[in-house]
Order: sequence, then structure tokens, then C-alpha cells
Amino acid sequence: MLGRACQKLQSATPLTTSIRGKARGVIVQSYAADVLPYKGKPAAPRSNRVRLEAGKTYNWCSCGLSVTQPFCDGTHKINGLTDVKPVSFQVEKTGDYPLCDCKQTDTRPICDGKHKD
Ligand code: FES
Repeated sequence: MLGRACQKLQSATPLTTSIRGKARGVIVQSYAADVLPYKGKPAAPRSNRVRLEAGKTYNWCSCGLSVTQPFCDGTHKINGLTDVKPVSFQVEKTGDYPLCDCKQTDTRPICDGKHKD
């Protein structure tokens, strides 16, 4: 029930950097990123600089359990493991981006330096 309501809201209100006002140059596409903003376990205490292509959709692992960091490998789907879901996003321009590996960033999926705290 809540899932359908979220899907309708998502299609009616696309989440963009201007609305979220946080991760610059990133277009977050998964409504789960805001509805379920739980933070996962740190995969590594660092940022992970990755080459990303404009227009391509990526799924950033927010649970910290994926073995293909910083991207989701579906591990979060294992029953009872976590309630955290991946953050689907695109970038506005092709380039190198510092994706968060500590999973504590407030600018998901981009590192905001929290791993240094
Ligand atoms: S494996 Fe971590 S969000 Fe999917």
C-alpha cells in the first residue's frame, strides 16, 4: 500500500538536486532514499572515487554489505539482514565522483567527509 503511494508520489514529484539541495550534480531517482533514509554499516572509512557516465543509472549501496562497493549487489534483499535500500541515481555530467563508502554521508551517494569524524 505504502509502496504504491510512494511510486505515485515519485512519478509526480521527481527528486532532483534542486529539491534535495545537497549532492551537487547528482539526480537521485529512488524515492526510498528519502522515505527510508537509514544509514548502513561502513564498508570502508573513505570515499571511493569512481568514473560515472551522464544518463546512466547507478545503484549506490547504502547498507554497506555489498561486495561490489560502492554499488549495490542485492545483498540487502536477504531476509532479516537490513531495512536499508540502495539509492538509484544519475549524474548530470560524465566525470569522477567521490562516492561514500562509510555510508554515513548526508549527501547520498556523494561523500561529505563524515568518515573523518
Ligand atoms: S547491497 Fe547494500 S543497498 Fe543493496
